[in-house]
Amino acid sequence: MDYTTKGWGTKAVHAGNVKDTQYGALTTPIYQTSTFIFENCAQGAARFEGTEPGYIYTRLGNPTTSVLEAKIAALDGAEATLATSSGMGAISSVFWTITHSGAHVIADETLYGCTWALLSHGLTRFGVEVSLIDTSDIENVKAALKPNTVAVYLETPANPNLKITDIEEIAKAAHEYNSDIKVICDNTFASPYVQRPLSLGADVLVYSATKYLNGHGDVIAGFVSGKTDFINQVRMVGVKDMTGSVLGPQEAFLILRGLKTFEVRMERLCSTAAKVAEFLNSHPKIERVYYPGLESHPNHEVAKKQMRNFGAMMSFIVKGGKPAGEKLLNSLELCTLAVSLGSDQTLIEHPASMTHSTYDPQALVEAGVPAGLVRLSVGLENVEDIIEDLAKGLELI
Ligand SMILES: Cc1ncc(COP(=O)(O)O)c(C=O)c1O
Repeated sequence: MDYTTKGWGTKAVHAGNVKDTQYGALTTPIYQTSTFIFENCAQGAARFEGTEPGYIYTRLGNPTTSVLEAKIAALDGAEATLATSSGMGAISSVFWTITHSGAHVIADETLYGCTWALLSHGLTRFGVEVSLIDTSDIENVKAALKPNTVAVYLETPANPNLKITDIEEIAKAAHEYNSDIKVICDNTFASPYVQRPLSLGADVLVYSATKYLNGHGDVIAGFVSGKTDFINQVRMVGVKDMTGSVLGPQEAFLILRGLKTFEVRMERLCSTAAKVAEFLNSHPKIERVYYPGLESHPNHEVAKKQMRNFGAMMSFIVKGGKPAGEKLLNSLELCTLAVSLGSDQTLIEHPASMTHSTYDPQALVEAGVPAGLVRLSVGLENVEDIIEDLAKGLELI
């Protein structure tokens, strides 16, 4: 069946599933095997040559993982998806596929801390030129494009301050300059339920599937989605030869299980987050809330245009800055003090000293991450309980 026009729940439950003709299992079996048996030498050779379909070795593909990849492709509206063993595995496998010494990458200055470290301290060691700019102003992107530019990389909403960038505008500018430039969007904060950047002109999506796609805080994983040719390149170069960042079949199974409730989880998370953002925004002890659904967000109009909901991530500054924020984090009982996001549990953290401690201090200021910023990932608990916990914590300040 073609699931292209079906709803989110239908896609998440059915797309990509392969009928088990041997035993009739309802759910996707875990093919816990490193390698696959060839009938004879000719068959092994043909599989390596790519002239005969079939599995070879789990670093190149595995039946459990293939079902998951097809499901994510359906959710993203992508031709193909590749699963990796972490979000950083997805991002680094893409960069190892498309860059070389002398290549130029434009990236937003506000990124997940380890992505920022990969770009500013990692790739530059191998002769890749990296320009970190504010991509929410299209003039900055146009000014940064050069003949050797191979990619424009962004997160929207960005981690940790929920900055919004106009994907359509950037894709248009980059492709008008050079149609070979890959516009790469980290869609982790939004998830495909909230935003489908490929339909806005982006070429490649990367995810930390550790977050909303798995959704239960028990797996580390990543995905790359895009055109089939490109995904094959990332599989055969980025993952097979350069990073070896392969998702294991057990983890693939857990994500398949998590995806069954993807739509209901995302609906609930987004509606809870909107109420929590309103609560914080009207609280006298809060200086500022960063949530794309609030009219006070500087790019609320762009968010409305490209997101079908506003997600479940937000950040805020408590009046009194870092010490007041720390006091709040230390006093919460239901909201859990931990990095990561997109889990069933509400998680809260301090980016400057945790997820973004990889940044140089000056770069962090330029990236719009103040020392007092607190990041909140709203979970599946009842909204009244989350708000009560935050209210009690704020009272103590
Ligand atoms: C936006 C974003 N991209 C990528 C990553 C890296 O993902 P992983 O931890 O699965 O390697 C993270 C992790 O927090 C993230 O928040």
